[in-house]
Amino acid sequence: TRILVLHGPNLNLLGTREPGIYGSTTMADIDARLAALAQTSGAVTASYQSNHEGALIDRIQAARDDGTDFIVINPAAFTHTSVGIRDALAAVGLPFIEVHLSNVHKREAFRHHSYFSDLAVGVIAGLGADGYEAAVRYALTH
Ligand code: DQA
Repeated sequence: TRILVLHGPNLNLLGTREPGIYGSTTMADIDARLAALAQTSGAVTASYQSNHEGALIDRIQAARDDGTDFIVINPAAFTHTSVGIRDALAAVGLPFIEVHLSNVHKREAFRHHSYFSDLAVGVIAGLGADGYEAAVRYALTH
């Protein structure tokens, strides 16, 4: 199983970015934990972060031909804005789980709507870095 882990804008700053909201775990820590978890099942993860909408779209399009079986994505701020990333996920047709570190539903109203949730296999919000692990664990068993 090949799992693509996608991180949207500002997630490269995890660890120092509003730690009260997003926790103190870095993106590198998360990616390392996910890689180790996948390895225990003979699976592999590939992680990619970008602050640029088009770069994320290009990476999703590439997933159509690179053997990716499942996508775990935290679209970050693009969750609430990006029809383009949504359309890319719809175009490739790969199953994906939407992850948010924070519980977006107890935050500002503009974070309550997602362009992704109705296409996702499932949505995890508010569990911090553990949410990514839950998503990868699901991907490994389905
Ligand atoms: C986020 C929530 C988004 O509203 C925000 O723009 C982010 C991170 C989260 O993981 O909690 O950048 O996706």
